[in-house]
Amino acid sequence: MPRAHAILAAVFCSAGAAAQPSGDVPDVVGQQIYERDCLACHMGDGRGVPGMNPALVSSAWVAGSPDALAGFILTGGYGPEVLMASFDYLSDAELAALMSYIRAAFAGLQEAPIEASLVERMRDQLQ
Ligand code: HEC
Repeated sequence: MPRAHAILAAVFCSAGAAAQPSGDVPDVVGQQIYERDCLACHMGDGRGVPGMNPALVSSAWVAGSPDALAGFILTGGYGPEVLMASFDYLSDAELAALMSYIRAAFAGLQEAPIEASLVERMRDQLQ
């Protein structure tokens, strides 16, 4: 997937990342986006704030279908009474990297990185 890697590398650089990436670039990018956009409510360990912000650890949304998870984050929760902000300003590659990070970190899933094309498809469906 050279093209996806190029996109992720661009995202990585524009995010002002540390100069020395260790390990998987997508995971590093995903973690940075998580820390910037999600950590304040869901906490660094993904356990959330009881009674306010649900845990992502043991969340069926995080561990379940990537399509549904992408849709949740893009819309802020689908429903008529959306309680979470919508994060549709994230690019397809950014959201894919973020999803790969939270699925690995909080659901313990060992899987291939989420593809930006999955996010693109869900974004189109939601329009
Ligand atoms: C301002 C606080 C806030 C921020 C920031 C935030 N969330 Fe949420 N999140 C919530 C709340 C509140 C809910 C419950 C919403 C609902 O049930 O409709 C939620 C629900 C979720 C769920 C569903 C959890 C479950 O099992 O019910 C996921 C997944 C999720 N958020 C992911 C994210 C991601 C990824 C980010 C960063 C891009 C993020 N959230 C940023 C407050 C926040």
